[in-house]
Amino acid sequence: MKTDHEILLPAKVNTNRKFFVVMLGVALLLLILNLKNLNFLENVSHVRLDIPTGFLVYNDHCQIEDHSPYDPHTMKYFTPQNYAQCIKKPRLAEVKFNKSSGKYVLIINKPLRKAYGKDLECCYHKIYRPPYDEDADIRVSIGSCWNVTNSVEIAETTENIIVRCKNKKLVDVYLDGFATMPEKDEVRKRLERWKKEDKPIKVMMLGIDSVSRLNLIRAMPHTRQFLERNGWFELNGYNKIEDNTFPNLMAILTGYNTARTAAECDAESSGKLELCPFLWKDFRNEGYVTAFAEDAANLSTFNYLKEGFEERPTDYYIRPFILEAERILPITKLSGLPYCLGYKHEGEYVFDYAIEFTERFNSSPYFGFFWANTFSHNNISDASSMDDRMIKYLNKIQATDSVIFFFSDHGMRFGPTRSSPIGHYEERLPFMFIYLPKWLKDKYPKWEESLRFNKNQLTNPYDIHMTVQSLLRISAGGEIKPADGCPKCQSVFEKVPPNRSCEDLAIEDHWCMCNNYVSESTSQQIGNFLGNFMVAHINNFVMSYKNGNFTETCNKLSLKSVDVLRVNRKNSLYIITFTTDPNGSQFEATVKHSPGSVIETSLRGDISRLNIYKFDAFCVNDGGIKKYCSCSKNVTKT
Ligand SMILES: *[C@@H]1O[C@H](CO)[C@@H](O)[C@H](O)[C@H]1NC(C)=O
Ligand SMILES: *[C@@H]1O[C@H](CO)[C@@H](O)[C@H](O)[C@H]1NC(C)=O
Ligand SMILES: *[C@@H]1O[C@H](CO)[C@@H](O)[C@H](O)[C@H]1NC(C)=O
Ligand SMILES: *[C@@H]1O[C@H](CO)[C@@H](O)[C@H](O)[C@H]1NC(C)=O
Ligand SMILES: *[C@@H]1O[C@H](CO)[C@@H](O)[C@H](O)[C@H]1NC(C)=O
Ligand SMILES: *[C@@H]1O[C@H](CO)[C@@H](O)[C@H](O)[C@H]1NC(C)=O
Ligand SMILES: *[C@@H]1O[C@H](CO)[C@@H](O)[C@H](O)[C@H]1NC(C)=O
Ligand SMILES: *[C@@H]1O[C@H](CO)[C@@H](O)[C@H](O)[C@H]1NC(C)=O
Repeated sequence: MKTDHEILLPAKVNTNRKFFVVMLGVALLLLILNLKNLNFLENVSHVRLDIPTGFLVYNDHCQIEDHSPYDPHTMKYFTPQNYAQCIKKPRLAEVKFNKSSGKYVLIINKPLRKAYGKDLECCYHKIYRPPYDEDADIRVSIGSCWNVTNSVEIAETTENIIVRCKNKKLVDVYLDGFATMPEKDEVRKRLERWKKEDKPIKVMMLGIDSVSRLNLIRAMPHTRQFLERNGWFELNGYNKIEDNTFPNLMAILTGYNTARTAAECDAESSGKLELCPFLWKDFRNEGYVTAFAEDAANLSTFNYLKEGFEERPTDYYIRPFILEAERILPITKLSGLPYCLGYKHEGEYVFDYAIEFTERFNSSPYFGFFWANTFSHNNISDASSMDDRMIKYLNKIQATDSVIFFFSDHGMRFGPTRSSPIGHYEERLPFMFIYLPKWLKDKYPKWEESLRFNKNQLTNPYDIHMTVQSLLRISAGGEIKPADGCPKCQSVFEKVPPNRSCEDLAIEDHWCMCNNYVSESTSQQIGNFLGNFMVAHINNFVMSYKNGNFTETCNKLSLKSVDVLRVNRKNSLYIITFTTDPNGSQFEATVKHSPGSVIETSLRGDISRLNIYKFDAFCVNDGGIKKYCSCSKNVTKT
């Protein structure tokens, strides 16, 4: 295995022999003088860790393989998409923040009106969210429409507006929407109290749902190149801890695992979610201004099969706008999701909101969390349409001197690419990049060194929870609390122990990418045995779930086929992909099978559902059982 300087020097030899001789002389001199070490070489070289080729992580307890993003089975389903304007006609309205008045101004651009016909009458609606209500996350309302001719100042109490213009025949010919961040007394007072001498650390978290590390390379090559050229730090061994978005984001935002969340602040009961210890609460308590935005109201993290927030979770919260805009503005869908919303792509409202946040609170301590689903959730091709747009956003936010986390929660979880040979691998390894502004790199040189080291170590969402928490504590003081779901997890600004295992990081075998598996023939006896074991397990689960309330609603399943079998003999672990009758539900499970031991066969962690279940499970709205339920009756049960 090569060391850093071995890699550096031969490269120089080829280009400049004299330089090499001089360098060698200097190196020898330093060695003779016994000057500390050769740290300066590390700085000029492209630091490479001692990882064998073909691996992302390699230690005694964890070896994560490095696969090609261009695997032909997956590429078969990948077609790059273009970014196209949502509506061809020009955008008539504009909303600007007037710094001297501290208010937003809505402007109707007169010269553009002719594109919409004669005698246009324009007005705007304010969007209201009930202040505190059981349905506050679903039920928003709009006020009456206020006339506007050329421009109008928007009241400070108004957050988010819909603009509507009618022609002479009173037909709506122009509909548009704007998410704004007006001044709030409470926020202003809080920010005034920030009297610390030290510059606050500003934190931005930006996410794109369902994008694996490999799909970022495949679908967003320009974005990735931007990240590399601008010195962002990647975590190659970033392994998800649970199946879908909610638990993986909860691990980051609260440090809780699924069981703890259900016990302390069950998102399925109304009014409970706010009891969770979200990081944005800690930031607010320490004097920060906070924001949270997510697109796709129907499937957003805290609302899909969940009750959402009664009280707005952060100072600025885009959901009321998205809900109303999705009801009023024209929508163009892509892969079943609202891709275009009026004049913009729905994801752009989220990232424009992020930009607005950094501009409005430029010199204040802020924490923002911004999450996009609409251009990535259902098809690996779709994110490519936003590749170049994303660079513009990242470039702007990078210029704000914030610490930035740019990441995903998991890879594609269902559909044909999920069933391809590296589908399970991509699903468990989302991308994670971190940006440090120069002033922090100068102040804490160790962080950079640690991030380089941690690049090829096993890491997970709880580590990110600890990392963000550490930023708050450095900036505002207070004590760091261990992540409840993973006491051994830590900030990635410190080097992690080099021998980390999935067990250390609270990652169940089923989600753990550290064990390498080889294919086993599905015609083996063992495949049938494990398949039947799993079907019995699922049937028992359904029969006993919530006192057997779903026994009659969901069909009893039987094994139809064993589709893929993988084995890790060292640990007696199997990954089995199988299909059940009736109606062909496909699952994937990890099972430990060691004949002769006390418990011969046991399920290791969660069960993945690989094909879309919304048609089978239309009769249940319970997140705990939906993926297992093939409806036997045409009734909806909650
Ligand atoms: C911005 O506010 C200032 C002060 O209230 C006012 O004089 C100016 O006209 C405003 N600008 C716009 C474009 O509304
Ligand atoms: C707004 O404009 C419409 C159409 O010109 C008019 O009928 C209505 O009276 C106006 N409303 C107000 C409050 O000015
Ligand atoms: C969200 O769900 C509601 C109720 O099922 C549906 O009417 C609406 O069209 C959905 N919205 C979008 C944007 O798909
Ligand atoms: C994903 O999108 C591509 C490009 O539009 C399309 O060819 C492919 O069929 C889609 N795949 C799925 C699973 O919908
Ligand atoms: C990693 O663990 C192995 C065995 O448990 C041990 O021999 C080795 O020294 C450890 N390596 C490091 C760097 O701690
Ligand atoms: C079972 O369902 C009934 C009616 O559908 C409901 O009243 C009861 O609370 C449910 N029990 C559980 C444990 O969910
Ligand atoms: C069976 O699956 C198909 C395709 O996914 C779906 O259209 C159909 O509604 C399902 N039927 C039942 C009874 O679940
Ligand atoms: C369920 O029942 C509704 C009407 O009650 C009907 O329109 C629909 O087609 C039924 N769906 C299935 C899958 O049987």
